[in-house]
Amino acid sequence: KNIVILISGRGSNMEAIVKACAQEQWPARVAAVVSNKASASGLQFAAEHGIATAVVDHKAFDSREAFDTELARVIDGFQPDVVVLAGFMRILTEGFVRHYDGRLLNIHPSLLPAFPGLHTHQRAIEAGCQVAGATVHLVTPELDHGPIIAQAVVPVLPGDSDSSLAARVLVQEHRMYPQAVRWFVEGAVRVGADGRVHVAEPA
Ligand code: GRF
Repeated sequence: KNIVILISGRGSNMEAIVKACAQEQWPARVAAVVSNKASASGLQFAAEHGIATAVVDHKAFDSREAFDTELARVIDGFQPDVVVLAGFMRILTEGFVRHYDGRLLNIHPSLLPAFPGLHTHQRAIEAGCQVAGATVHLVTPELDHGPIIAQAVVPVLPGDSDSSLAARVLVQEHRMYPQAVRWFVEGAVRVGADGRVHVAEPA
């Protein structure tokens, strides 16, 4: 199976997926890493690991639809079975999401449905939350919604800043996201009639 990963920056979740895919011999390979920014540092890691890279610069398009159409054309050139958003910082159009219906994954740094959108760690601290975390979910047209595949929880500690909390959550993201993508490529992720994800037991 072919995995295409979309990034906008550092790409540490992409790195974790690339490494797990190689070390654990998944029935899949990372076919390409695509960024909307040429400056995304994760592109270098991908290239160094022999993975095809591509840049589709959103600034070169005058509408979201035009950008998403070109992005999908580039992604589809790699014949993806699953498209993985990993720190991809563009809101996607409904047409794009529907095109990848059921095979588009995202990681969001909060315990959804709490704190969709940006600045999740700061908002969790300001709300007095005692736990925070991250969520892997299937993408639906509504931002940061969609069936939940996996969640990881960390404590919010006294004196946490958004960056100290983000770092604690990121450790869990790097563990959880590869696991969830692996479940997906192994066919273990099913969405029931109730709209919830059921992860099948390994055979
Ligand atoms: C992660 O915290 C992810 O949950 C959020 O943006 C961050 C991306 O980090 N959407 P990286 O690019 O994977 O290092």
